[in-house]
Amino acid sequence: MMKKLLFLLIATVALQLPHLLCRAQNKADTLNRKWWKEAVVYQVYPRSFKDNNGDGIGDLKGIISRLDYIKSLGVDVVWLNPIYGSPNDDNGYDVSDYRNIMTDFGTMDDFDALLKGMHARGIKLVMDLVVNHSSDEHQWFKQSKSSRGNPYREYYHWWNAEQGIPPYRYSLFDVNHDAWRYDSLSNAYYLHYFSRKQPDLNWENPKLRNEVYDIMKFWADKGIDGFRLDAFQFAAKDTTFPAFPRGFEKNFTQYYAMQGNLHGYLQEMNRQVLRKYNLMSVAEGAGNTFEDAHNLVDADRNELNMAYAFEGVDIARPEGYSVIHLKQVFTKWDSAFAAKGWLSVFLANHDQARLVSRFGNDKPEFRELSSKMLSTFLMTMRGTPYYYNGDELGMTNAGFTSIDDYRDVQTLNEYRRLKNTGGDLSKYLQRIAFESRDNGRTPFQWNSDNNAGFTTGTPWIKVNPNYKIINAALQEKDANSPLNYFRRLVKLRKDNLVLVYGKYTLLDAQNPDAYTYTRELDGKKLLIMLNFRGKPVDTNTGVDFAKSRVLTGNYRQPSKNGKLLPYEAVVYELR
Ligand code: GLC
Ligand code: CA
Repeated sequence: MMKKLLFLLIATVALQLPHLLCRAQNKADTLNRKWWKEAVVYQVYPRSFKDNNGDGIGDLKGIISRLDYIKSLGVDVVWLNPIYGSPNDDNGYDVSDYRNIMTDFGTMDDFDALLKGMHARGIKLVMDLVVNHSSDEHQWFKQSKSSRGNPYREYYHWWNAEQGIPPYRYSLFDVNHDAWRYDSLSNAYYLHYFSRKQPDLNWENPKLRNEVYDIMKFWADKGIDGFRLDAFQFAAKDTTFPAFPRGFEKNFTQYYAMQGNLHGYLQEMNRQVLRKYNLMSVAEGAGNTFEDAHNLVDADRNELNMAYAFEGVDIARPEGYSVIHLKQVFTKWDSAFAAKGWLSVFLANHDQARLVSRFGNDKPEFRELSSKMLSTFLMTMRGTPYYYNGDELGMTNAGFTSIDDYRDVQTLNEYRRLKNTGGDLSKYLQRIAFESRDNGRTPFQWNSDNNAGFTTGTPWIKVNPNYKIINAALQEKDANSPLNYFRRLVKLRKDNLVLVYGKYTLLDAQNPDAYTYTRELDGKKLLIMLNFRGKPVDTNTGVDFAKSRVLTGNYRQPSKNGKLLPYEAVVYELR
């Protein structure tokens, strides 16, 4: 009898086994866990992070001296803006030597020490790969322009003058908006989507592509962990250069981005480099449609891991923005990637004004609250968060009132263009005070010493005068500072896989002031409530708060009834 029972038991378990295994398997499959999905990426803008030698420019030794700070945030990955040899027309996004370190930033020894220091602390390094264009001072371009027959001619896009004036192309940074620049040496025009010192590389040329893969291997051999592909969607162009319709500039990416054989190039890059070295990859820009975006990041296509879309970050306007719109955009992107692919989540970077000034409220009474609220949003969405240095302190826009304070090529060239064409300069000054990229590039505010402890010299761009009240040293001492709150959020994300992979559901969609959603995984359910306004706001989520537990929030006494205090953020666990 016993034997029979035992047999039955074994038989039942044996029969169940494949099923049980399969279930476990399926679960792992649906999650499809990857380190880069679970990572928090912290972006360091090297020019403005920490100056070590007193020349007023941030440098690699400066970053090395602050690695313990970065580690203390709990982040896993640092994305570093370009540090390669560059004449700095566009702060390093104009590379003249891809295998060297910009003199302003230090030496290759400094780089090796930086990478070692990061890895010793368990931090990965993602480098910026700027290969839609090079600098006009790169050897390739010097060769290319020297004569029409030069072997490097085909590394760039040229239009011979005998063919007449080239079909108009829009330049994002040029003083005339004209992306073709005449060069008398070979009586031809070269193409530059960005500044005239950033000629576009010709990706149709396999030699150029191989050069790029070699450069990538050079850094991968050094042990870096990934690449962020700068402006890469522009790399493949329609090189028959058809005429575009009038006014195309307003929606120019549709004509400029994701053209030609872009996916072919990425698959080739993946085969030749990314896969071989197991590198993380993220593209700036996600194309024009969800289909584009999927094609970039669907794992079975073997292109990239992630791309970042601009639709969210582009919502902010000087006159404000609609919270409903923000919710729609993020919800739409989340659902497009719910079953497949992976997103990145961000609201600020070195090309944007400051997070709290654009999306929150930087007035003294609301600055800290709204900055914490926005950080809560970024750290509780599905997708890998990309978090910009200084936002953890709630650093604000620069407050520049004179054009002389600006350094950014895009901001300055547009000013010149308006001046040349009789545009409204004071209106422009107002606009850039809100949105110029320089707002996000003022020196990191370390402490209350001169120049916020960034440099002992004269900083390359003015320090924000509010550094005496907004700085890391002060915030270290305050358990409730934005800095310490950010650390808690990163830990919360690390401790709760549901915040990485969990299903996202928007609640109270029509609420014009609050953003509330749940995240769910394996029976665990978190509720995130965010008030985007400087006034108390009612919500309608149908949640029974008696059955909830507060995990974190930006008020000492968090709301327990669905009525949110000004800029309140709360994360609850629901039972
Ligand atoms: C990207 C970079 C930006 C740069 C541009 C040209 O958008 O993020 O900073 O100016 O590409 O390289
Ligand atoms: Ca320096």
